[in-house]
Amino acid sequence: MTLHTPAQAPAKPEQPGLYGGKSSRRITVRDIAAAKRRGEKWPMLTAYDAMTASVFDDAGIPVMLVGDSAGNAHLGYDSTVPVTLDQMTMLAAAVVRGTRRALIVGDLPFGSYQEGPIQALRSATHLVKEAGVGAVKLEGGERSADQIRLLVESGIPVMAHVGLTPQSVHAYGGHPVQGRGEEAAQQLLRDAKAVQDAGAFAVVLELVTAELAAEVTRILHIPTVGIGSGAECDAQVLVWTDMAGMTDWPGGRTPRFVKQYGQLREALGDAARAFAEDVVGGAYPAEEHAFH
Ligand code: KIV
Repeated sequence: MTLHTPAQAPAKPEQPGLYGGKSSRRITVRDIAAAKRRGEKWPMLTAYDAMTASVFDDAGIPVMLVGDSAGNAHLGYDSTVPVTLDQMTMLAAAVVRGTRRALIVGDLPFGSYQEGPIQALRSATHLVKEAGVGAVKLEGGERSADQIRLLVESGIPVMAHVGLTPQSVHAYGGHPVQGRGEEAAQQLLRDAKAVQDAGAFAVVLELVTAELAAEVTRILHIPTVGIGSGAECDAQVLVWTDMAGMTDWPGGRTPRFVKQYGQLREALGDAARAFAEDVVGGAYPAEEHAFH
């Protein structure tokens, strides 16, 4: 028998990164916790259909959110408010089918958890069983802590969401930056701690000042996922249609926090126009596209 001295012992395989790791098994919430301990940053994108999700899975995006931003980005509503649990279930099931590696987080839409923990558990159970998501997300800090606690006790991982919570758009009357001023900052800190104490495995910080988001990220032991909240968050999320330059912003005004990594709207329009011109001009279908 060979005894390995520490110097001879075979090196432990390096912990794979969330992004760029080779493992083809699904990412789990344990992997997310390990990334926070390693101080590793990671990307998250929204997805609403199987084909787009499979592109992001192949690109190595480790976490995908089937967000209720589907209301604006996919279903043609002007907010997230009208989105239903049945719609979320259908979209989330497609994203799960289109992916092999990413952790899929399904959003609980407005009206599916605000009544209390039991309603939240019923809705989350539906998403987990019918769509196959690995975790759910819901909005609210202290006000949603009881819901988060029951879901986590029931075995459903929860991503929380504080700062600007778009399901409250009618109460805000817009999309104001959150955490400005001492009182607002203290409330945000209480919200972030409340969701961590309730058992959330990560928390989205939406439109929070960069300084406050950095402080929350330092204080919490669960990862923060920033959107419009500066560079210090552990992870960053964007709505995929914003990220890829697909969204048609009113008046062409892209929000300050969005960076476009492609011009998909223009590319798709060009493809559609080229097809139409070929059809009208008789160039498509050509002989090689025909059956005899
Ligand atoms: O619904 C969504 O896509 C979201 C992200 C913007 C965080 O909540």
